[in-house]
Amino acid sequence: MTKTRPFLRWVGGKARLVSRLSPSVPALGDDFTYYEPFLGAGSMFFAVKPKRSVLGDENLDLVQCYARVKARPDLVWRHLRALMPCQGRDEYYAFRTEFNRSSDSFRRAALFIYLNKTCFNGIWRVSRAGDFNVPYGAKAKPGFPKRAELFECSNALAPARLNQGDFESTVAGARQGDLVYFDPPYLPMSATAFFRHYTAHRFTTGDHERVALVAAQLALDGVNVMVTEGDSELVRKWYRDFVIREVDVRRSVSCGSERHDARELIITSYATEPSALPSI
Ligand SMILES: C[S@@+](CC[C@H](N)C(=O)[O-])C[C@H]1O[C@@H](n2cnc3c(N)ncnc32)[C@H](O)[C@@H]1O
Repeated sequence: MTKTRPFLRWVGGKARLVSRLSPSVPALGDDFTYYEPFLGAGSMFFAVKPKRSVLGDENLDLVQCYARVKARPDLVWRHLRALMPCQGRDEYYAFRTEFNRSSDSFRRAALFIYLNKTCFNGIWRVSRAGDFNVPYGAKAKPGFPKRAELFECSNALAPARLNQGDFESTVAGARQGDLVYFDPPYLPMSATAFFRHYTAHRFTTGDHERVALVAAQLALDGVNVMVTEGDSELVRKWYRDFVIREVDVRRSVSCGSERHDARELIITSYATEPSALPSI
């Protein structure tokens, strides 16, 4: 299986963890639907590249960007190619203002990718009015997707259904034998609280517990469920009937510019071998 590089970077994204997550993806063949209700940069989705999928996120700008990349990567690329050389501070703020005002959906999708790659630490944060307000990142190499990579992502997305909304609405159609992967924002802890602001709403401890309840119900219905969460007593309690595996990670974003070690839990409703993704 060839790996498709996600066209975005995302706080809490699992890009660097995919190879360690892959042994926990069950071998299901082709006849299942893959659900990823906290899509972000879609690291797992682009590794699995399932034949059928339902992908969702509460972030409307993000989902609209995916929809445009899926539908017309050529139009998104045309705008992005023109934006890419403009990496100065003043240009960044001009494009940020344009993004918050623009109604041209393909231009907005390109601006979304541009801002994601050039803003501070790839954070997505909006004001109460819904305006993107992250400062300039001064990144030497923003890592824009190449044309071929954007088209590859578009191909992977072609059979996917996209949903903007709360995670429960994305997984509502999951049935026995399907696979649901939950990767919610990190549990609120003071050091990371700032980085939970992916959307205008906060994702609370109660929302995390809601994920655990939905996961338990899906597992009872015979759906294969996989969850990634930061290690904590609460999480271990909520998922005590699941299989829990620990992985040590270095989080790329924490308070300020620091990085710190953290333990991530890979939680599954099934025993974790063998892998469907032996080659990544
Ligand atoms: C940890 S990130 C997902 C990262 C992704 N798995 C990746 O590898 O890039 C969590 C995502 O959940 C989304 N989100 C926050 N609250 C949500 C909700 N109630 N329902 C669905 N998505 C939500 C955020 O917009 C964010 O994209």
